[in-house]
Amino acid sequence: MNVVLIIRSLLCQTVVQAYYSRIQLLNEIQMDKKEAAFFLSHGSRAERSPTPPFCYDRAQEGVCEKRHMECKTEEFREYLCTKENQACPANLMCTIDGIWCPVHYRTHCANICDIFGQGQSKCKNGGTCINNGAESYTCICPQGFTGKDCERDIDECLANPCQHSASCNNVVGNYSCNCPSRFTGQNCELVCHPMTSDVLYLLDAGNLLTFDEFQGAIDALQYVSLLLLGSNDVRVSLVKYAAEPEMKFNFTNGLTETKVHQKIAILSKEVQPSNHTKALEYVYQNGFTTRNGARNDTRKVIVHLTNGRGIDNDTIHLADMLKNDGKILIEIGFGDFIDRKAMLNLASYPYMFYHLGEKQFTDVKVLRSLKSLSEYEVCNV
Ligand SMILES: *[C@@H]1O[C@H](CO)[C@@H](O)[C@H](O)[C@H]1NC(C)=O
Ligand SMILES: *[C@@H]1O[C@H](CO)[C@@H](O)[C@H](O)[C@H]1NC(C)=O
Ligand SMILES: *[C@@H]1O[C@H](CO)[C@@H](O)[C@H](O)[C@H]1NC(C)=O
Ligand SMILES: *[C@@H]1O[C@H](CO)[C@@H](O)[C@H](O)[C@H]1NC(C)=O
Ligand SMILES: *[C@@H]1O[C@H](CO)[C@@H](O)[C@H](O)[C@H]1NC(C)=O
Repeated sequence: MNVVLIIRSLLCQTVVQAYYSRIQLLNEIQMDKKEAAFFLSHGSRAERSPTPPFCYDRAQEGVCEKRHMECKTEEFREYLCTKENQACPANLMCTIDGIWCPVHYRTHCANICDIFGQGQSKCKNGGTCINNGAESYTCICPQGFTGKDCERDIDECLANPCQHSASCNNVVGNYSCNCPSRFTGQNCELVCHPMTSDVLYLLDAGNLLTFDEFQGAIDALQYVSLLLLGSNDVRVSLVKYAAEPEMKFNFTNGLTETKVHQKIAILSKEVQPSNHTKALEYVYQNGFTTRNGARNDTRKVIVHLTNGRGIDNDTIHLADMLKNDGKILIEIGFGDFIDRKAMLNLASYPYMFYHLGEKQFTDVKVLRSLKSLSEYEVCNV
C-alpha cells in the first residue's frame, strides 16, 4: 500500500513539473473559465471510457484515469490536485474559493453541506443537510417545508386538514383552522362538551366571626347568581355551621337564582364557636351524595367562607381527605384578622385562597376563578 502511494506521488510530481511550464505559458484564468464551462455542461473534461471500467461516476474518475488513455489528458486535474498535495476524501468535495466546481478543479476540500450557503446551511428554513458523499446532499426538511433545499412552503390546506367544515389558512411553515364553536384542536378534531359542577358553599356562622365578617360572607353568597345555575348546569348547595353543621339546601333539582337568594336571605349568625373539623367531616360524609342531588360526572367544588380562626390540625387533616377524594377547596377569608396560614393549608392550591375585607366580594379574580372552575369545557375526540 505504502509503495503504491509513493509511486503515485512521484508520478504526480513529475506530471506537475511537466505541465507547470505549459500552464505558465497559457493564460491560466482564461483556461480555467473555458474548461469550467465544459465541465459544468459535460461533467467531465475527457471523453468517457467506452470500455469497462466506465467512468460514469465522477467520484471514480481518478481511478479510471489511471488506467485509460482517454482520461489521461486531465492535465489540469493532476496539477491542481497535487498542488494542494491532497485528494478530497469521499465525503468532501472540491471547491475553488468556496465555490463548488467539478472534481477537476479540486483545490480545496469542503463538505458539500457547508459550502453552498456561504456560512449558512445549504438547507433553507431550518432543514438539516446530510452529506451523501459523491458530491451529493439531502435536506431533511422541517414540517411545513419541502423541495430539494426545503425552499418551498407546503400549502397544507390543499390536503383539506380542517374538519367540521372549518376554513383553512396556510401560513409559512404551518397552517391553522378556523374552528366553528364547540370544536378545537389543530384540525378542529376535538369536540368540546360543556361540563358543570356541584358547588357546595360552606358557611362559617360561629361566634368567632364578627357581625361584619359574617355579613361580608352573606354578601359574597349573593354572587352565586353569576354562576350559570340550573338543573343541567351548576347546582349549588349550602352547609351552615357553628358547633353543628346543617345543610340549608341541597343540590336537588338545581335551584334557580331566586330560590337560592330566598334561602340565603334567612341565614343568621349563631352564638356558639365554630367547629371547622366537624363541618368538614360532615361535608366529607354527606356533602356530595346522590340523595342530596349531587351528580356523578360533575366537578365538585367547596367554597369555604370563614375567617379561619379555630382551624386546627384535625381540620387540615379532613381537608386533605376531601382533596384526596377529588374535591376542590376554595378558601375565602373575611375580616382583618383571618388565620391566613390555616386557610392556605385548607385550600386546594395557594391561588385558591382569597382574602377579602369585610363586605367586598366584587373581587373579579375570585369570581372569575369560581366561574371558570364551575363552568368548564372538556374537549376530546
Ligand atoms: C403549527 O401550529 C400549531 C398550532 O398553532 C402548533 O401547535 C404547531 O406546533 C405548529 N407546527 C409547527 C411545525 O410550527
Ligand atoms: C369538633 O368536632 C370533632 C368531631 O368532628 C370533635 O372530636 C371535637 O371534639 C369537636 N371540637 C370541639 C371543640 O367541640
Ligand atoms: C334535598 O332537598 C330536597 C328538596 O328540598 C328534599 O326533598 C330532600 O329531602 C333533600 N335531601 C336530603 C338528603 O335531605
Ligand atoms: C352514579 O354512580 C353510581 C355508582 O357508581 C351508580 O350506582 C349510579 O347509577 C350513578 N347515577 C347516575 C345518575 O349515573
Ligand atoms: C400541627 O401540626 C404541625 C406540623 O404537622 C405541628 O408542628 C403542630 O405542633 C401541630 N399543632 C397542634 C396543635 O397539634
